[in-house]
Amino acid sequence: MNVLIIGSGGREHAMAWKAAQSPKVDKLFAAPGSDGIAAVAECVPIDVMDFEQLAAFAKAHRIDLTLVGPEQPLVSGIGDFFEKEGLKIFGPSAAAAQIEGSKSFAKALMEKYNIPTAHYRTFTDYQAAGNYLHEVGAPIVLKADGLAAGKGVVVAPTMEAAGQGLKTLMKDKKFAGAGARVVIEEYLEGEEFSLMALVHGGLVVPLAIAQDHKRAFEEDKGPNTGGMGAYSPVLQIAQTVVAEAVRTIVEPAAAGLVQEGRPFTGVLYAGLMLTEKGPKVIEFNCRFGDPETQVVLPRLESDLIAAIQDVMKGIRPQLRWTDRTAVGTVLASRGYPGSYKKGEKLGRLDALSENALLFHAGTRKSGTDWLTNGGRVLLVTRLGDSLRAARDAVNRDLENIQTDAVFFRKDIGHRALEAEAKKA
Ligand code: AMP
Ligand code: GLY
Repeated sequence: MNVLIIGSGGREHAMAWKAAQSPKVDKLFAAPGSDGIAAVAECVPIDVMDFEQLAAFAKAHRIDLTLVGPEQPLVSGIGDFFEKEGLKIFGPSAAAAQIEGSKSFAKALMEKYNIPTAHYRTFTDYQAAGNYLHEVGAPIVLKADGLAAGKGVVVAPTMEAAGQGLKTLMKDKKFAGAGARVVIEEYLEGEEFSLMALVHGGLVVPLAIAQDHKRAFEEDKGPNTGGMGAYSPVLQIAQTVVAEAVRTIVEPAAAGLVQEGRPFTGVLYAGLMLTEKGPKVIEFNCRFGDPETQVVLPRLESDLIAAIQDVMKGIRPQLRWTDRTAVGTVLASRGYPGSYKKGEKLGRLDALSENALLFHAGTRKSGTDWLTNGGRVLLVTRLGDSLRAARDAVNRDLENIQTDAVFFRKDIGHRALEAEAKKA
């Protein structure tokens, strides 16, 4: 079969890398892909939002299955467009993608189907939102309603930060349409983890869990980013907790979307907090997580494409996972998540060990050199017999390609190591 991956980042590189291993796949394409993804797929220069051209390409090249990386085309209806054209796509309709596209929709769905999440209220009026903040006090969390590339969330420890955050979201129009409506929600405390599942209607097939690192700097300091690294498994989250999250969160969400006439097909991502009262939802996404995918797929021993085909037929696949630990660390441009330079030369990528998995996020090739071309530049994943072994190996790999133009966190997985130390 022929498979098309839509997107160009590190997550899409990992999806393409995994798809390329499937004995079912004859030809693999990526649109637009990247110089890095070109190592595993044929890249075609079509924008992720150009549905007409993407569908025309899929027909011309007899694409049997399309996988979508980013949320934007899903929320904008690429799933519906492909379906209408008779093309198979593992991604939700626009109506189902609202679970990520609108925080207030996701919140209302959770409320209706008794899915545990933070208490919340929705506001379109600045004054009313401000009054509510004073009523409930800090710490508190503010979220732009629409898509904001992971940056529309303000976790405010103080009233001052909350007031400032509200102003940024609603008044300064930093998030344009996304901030016209704001969700204000209870601050949840606990251990965060990411649970993704292959979903088709009511069928939910959970993947191995991972933990992301959102803050830019070591010890979880600095601003929130798109994610600086991840690891899997997350042993401080017990299997019983994961089972509870599947039963009380992911399955009811999938069933609720069916009930609402918006059945979901694709990857449903639950960002969860393990609170004293059990796992609660921080957010849903309608796609694979980035960078979680870059550590979860390397642990999957089964054929991803076969599994997706089964799921789309309503068959539950048996997934096999390695017990080894995957650690993936992002190399980012200095300045990220603020402003940064592009076109900076990186160290030698071809000198990496063959045991290191290299996923390009924002790079560009120039002759034999690799240049930075984005905030998150690349990610290296290693599998190890322990978290420490995997992380040490990743850190060595990245030290060898680091330059003054880029930085990375050396402490990916620190919460797991701290939990382990506490237990011992
Ligand atoms: P999000 O973009 O929704 O994933 O939010 C970014 C980060 O903000 C999350 O990964 C959490 O660390 C934090 N966050 C979001 N909502 C809450 C909440 N209700 N309580 C505590 N932290 C939160
Ligand atoms: N890692 C969080 C996300 O993909 O949104």
